[in-house]
Formats: sequence, structure tokens, C-alpha cells
Amino acid sequence: DKGEFKHYMLKEIYEQPDAVARTLDMALESTETAHSYQLRDDFLQRHETQLSNIRHVQVIACGTSYHAGLVAKYWFENLIRIPCSVEVASEFRYRNPVVVDNSLVICISQSGETADTLSALREIQKHSPTGLVSLALCNVPTSSLVRETDIFLPTLAGPEIGVASTKAFTTQLAALMLLVLKTGVTQSCIDDERLYTLLENLHKLPNQLHASLNLDASIKAMSESFEDKKSCLFLGRGLQFPIALEGALKLKEISYIHAEGYAAGELKHGPLALVDKDMPIVVLAPKDSMFDKLKANMQEVHARHGELFVFASEESKMVAEDRLHVVYIPDVCETLAPIVYSVPVQLLSYHVAVMRGTDVDQPRNLAKSVTVE
Ligand code: M6R
Repeated sequence: DKGEFKHYMLKEIYEQPDAVARTLDMALESTETAHSYQLRDDFLQRHETQLSNIRHVQVIACGTSYHAGLVAKYWFENLIRIPCSVEVASEFRYRNPVVVDNSLVICISQSGETADTLSALREIQKHSPTGLVSLALCNVPTSSLVRETDIFLPTLAGPEIGVASTKAFTTQLAALMLLVLKTGVTQSCIDDERLYTLLENLHKLPNQLHASLNLDASIKAMSESFEDKKSCLFLGRGLQFPIALEGALKLKEISYIHAEGYAAGELKHGPLALVDKDMPIVVLAPKDSMFDKLKANMQEVHARHGELFVFASEESKMVAEDRLHVVYIPDVCETLAPIVYSVPVQLLSYHVAVMRGTDVDQPRNLAKSVTVE
């Protein structure tokens, strides 16, 4: 039931604060101690021995779930220094890849029935490297993926009907962060200060998602500039690069406008040639450690008369000017910013698609669950 919403996709976008809160509740509890929040003792407790032995992480997934994996790579490597590779399942399964001993293989899938992801998992299991641990990060407890893996980490998004993944993605990110923290604690490779700050920031996340939903009207106004566009670029750096990829996927999937996500540092290596006055460029620009570099990239685009649509934090003090539009996103800590910045790119794609009259919940040629390769 869509309730008051015109489409399932919009309903599901709006469900994100609750869906993320439910997912976080699996692992987060408040305490009476100096630290306000801690990881619950029972979170993945049965799997502590498995997690304590892993030395490498291999993520396998498709589409939006693959983008969640790309964010997790930054987290695993930056926060707990465990090397992490991420690959689309359709490539991984056919190239005879090396899976090193003591790997944690994380299969991310909303449906748990994606053919390529299941086959890639089976391929690894066939070679059974020493110390292999497989984990399903999945929204459907009864799925094939959950049955065939050692550990089940659920996303508590609730059923997702719209073909475009929204709440499945943000709950995947929330759960991946919990997994990184749990692994860090189990292997004693995360310092307390960092852990407790992140737990506190995680607790604030549902409210920050609420606050970004409140920007809907300004994002809708922004979307009007995209109605007649043929092509669009999404730019981000660091943790926002996967969100640029996700924004581009969302836009092309439901509005049928060609879109590409790029790491902003790659502009000069090709895509800058595309930039002219007809090219909208969406930029994910929180005030983080990469902001100054990103600003230089935006200037390069502006100098070539590209039209910039920037999601920025207020702290960045970016000011709108000719061919530069800004929507301010509530301040959020750098590590968790990709979760909050997912919302404006979802809303932008949604409004562009509605304006262009496409079938938002059931885009042409696509299926919710891709059970054939
Ligand atoms: O069910 P899965 O997460 O395995 O599905 C993977 C992709 O097919 C899926 O994320 C797809 O890219 C989305 N429809 C994009 O919005």
C-alpha cells in the first residue's frame, strides 16, 4: 500500500529514517557509563571467533548493492586497516579470481536471489580457501543467499517494492558500518575514542536522514532544470565517489537520462571534454577532508560553463551564483556522510523521473530481482 505517496519509491525514500533506526537497533544500545552508546553484547556474538580470524574482505554484489560495497571498502581500510576488495559479481564469477586465506566474503543483496551474486559465492566455495567465512548482507531472511552463507547480517528495511533501490541501500550502509565496528572490536584494531564517537554519530543518523528529507521541496525545484537534459555527470571524492555512482545509476534507471558517476579527480582525464553549457553536473560536496580538492574540480567545470548542482554542507559556505545551484545538507560526520547524502540524489532522480512521466516504480526493461544472468 502506497498510503499518501504517489509512488512506492517515494514512500520507501521516506521510510529511511525508521528503516535505518531499526537496522542500527540490532547492535546499538545506550549505556549509563561515560560513553552514551555501545555495541550490544549479543550482536554477531556467535560469530566472534570467525570474525577474529579474518585478514581480508572480499565484497561481491551487483548494482546498488555493489555501490554499498564500495563505501564499505573505505570503512574497512580506513577505520580498521583490513584490506578490502570489491567487485561486481558478473565479472568476479568468470575470471578465476584469487581469494586469499582467511577472507571474509561479503555478499550484499537486497533480494538474496541475484543470479550472479549467488554464482560468484558458489565459485568461491568450490575452491574452499582456508579460513573462508561467508556473510550475507540481505533484506530477505528466507533467500537462497542467506541459506548458503555462514553468517546472516540482516538489513531491516522491510519489503522494498520500487525497482530502484533506496532504503535497501541506506540500511546496507548502516549494517556495514556495524560490521566494521564489530570486527574492529573483535580484533582490537579500533581505538576506543573513534569507536564511541562513531556509535554516538550513528545514533544521530535517523534524525539527520529526517532533516535531509525536509529538503525535498528545494530538491524538487532543482530537478526542473533536468527535464530536457540528455546527459548528466555526478561527481564526488573519497566516500562520496560511490554515492556519485549511485546517483548516476538512480537517475538513468528511472528517468532514462544518460548519467555517469565519476571520481572528481578523474575529470581532467576525459570527462571534462563533455562539459558545456548544456551539461548538468551534480556534485556531492560535504565539508570533509577532500572538500578543497573538490572545490578546485568545481571551478574547472564552472570555467567551461557547465551548470553545477551542488549538495553541500552549510559549513562549506558555498554560495549560489550564476550556473551554480546549492542545496545545503545538514552537517554530518565525514564517515557517515555517504548515508545522508544518498537521500538528496534519490529525491533528485525521483522528481526528474516524475516530471518526465516515466514509470518510476517499474522502469522499462528492468526487474526487481535479477534471477537470471
Ligand atoms: O537484490 P540485489 O541487491 O542483489 O540487486 C542488485 C541490483 O540488481 C540492484 O541493486 C539494482 O541495481 C537496483 N534496481 C538499482 O536501483
